Amino acid sequence: MWHVHDEDLKALAARGRLRALAPRQGRDFASNDYLALARSPRLRDAIGAALARGVPAGSGGSRLLRGNDPEHEALEAEAAAWAGSETALFVSSGYAANVALLATLPQTGDLIVHDELIHASMHDGLRLSRATAIAVPHNDADGFADACAQWRKAGHTARIWLAFETLYSMDGDRAPLADLVAVAERFDAVMLIDEAHATGVFGRSGRGLADGLDGRADAIVLRTCGKALGVEGALVCAPLVVRDFLVNRGRPFIFSTAPSPLIAAAVREALRICVDEPERRARLAVLAAHAERLLVPLGATATGTQILPVLLGDDRRAMRIASALQHAGFDVRGIRPPTVPQGTARLRISLTLNTGPDDLAALADALEGAMA
Ligand SMILES: Cc1ncc(COP(=O)(O)O)c(C=O)c1O
Repeated sequence: MWHVHDEDLKALAARGRLRALAPRQGRDFASNDYLALARSPRLRDAIGAALARGVPAGSGGSRLLRGNDPEHEALEAEAAAWAGSETALFVSSGYAANVALLATLPQTGDLIVHDELIHASMHDGLRLSRATAIAVPHNDADGFADACAQWRKAGHTARIWLAFETLYSMDGDRAPLADLVAVAERFDAVMLIDEAHATGVFGRSGRGLADGLDGRADAIVLRTCGKALGVEGALVCAPLVVRDFLVNRGRPFIFSTAPSPLIAAAVREALRICVDEPERRARLAVLAAHAERLLVPLGATATGTQILPVLLGDDRRAMRIASALQHAGFDVRGIRPPTVPQGTARLRISLTLNTGPDDLAALADALEGAMA
């Protein structure tokens, strides 16, 4: 009965690409819990306090049915005030939010110009979209402008959408944001900005690298809550019309049980921590600078962010080095295609406040040994 699937799994194994779930172990150089909030007593207490005041564990349905809870609305009001956006909409995950945004907002006849390295969730939204999509080389603002100019030159007058991340999860590099904003202004385009890895880490009160763009009619900013914010879910920070449109037309939002109200309470506390505890961001920045000093001489790419890739190219070499590091007690993951482009297998070293300078020094020693 399962012949086709079995063969597919065997083919993956033969290419060294079979994935398996592994327990969490070793010093954390793999998670996206950048600010170490996942286990923070403040989040735990926020959930405890919410339970104590009778907040339910489950929402009981879609937001459009009986699932809409005061905790969701309180979070959205606080998130919009924090981000400086007209509204915020809390969605069960960044994946669902990206699918909803890409599949719902661009209309037939529109053009979506996107960075070639956008996240899989944006790609899946693109597959459902009725608009035309064009990929441009990574972080090439001129490539965005050229694609827009050619399309206009061909006589198209409909809306252009620019889709990109501000901090790329597998490369750790930042988008040329000011240049992309200029492209959006020149072509009257709307920006779909994925701040998954910048939220909580950069910007005033952790608003991200797109801090300052909220409130504009041409900016939709996705801030996920499962990475630096330590919880789960995502906030679409956008003009009111976009929120209303997603509530009416966004199938991943409409046809899905609303997130637990307890989770909404925890995310609200995480936003407050971003405001109250700026020292977390400062400590992470110091750690990231320290990591660059230690790891760049060993082959890591300098990114100026909390994500440092070590590009190795060959899948098996990447997995072998990752495995050696894991055996030495470091949770460092090898990343292979299709998560990254062919021939760019790598180690993805992510820095979090779950580790400190001593862990980093030990990792550098182990990496040097494993690469030899
Ligand atoms: C850039 C980017 N966007 C979106 C997502 C999806 O977010 P979530 O994990 O909340 O589904 C991720 C998660 O890995 C991501 O890295």
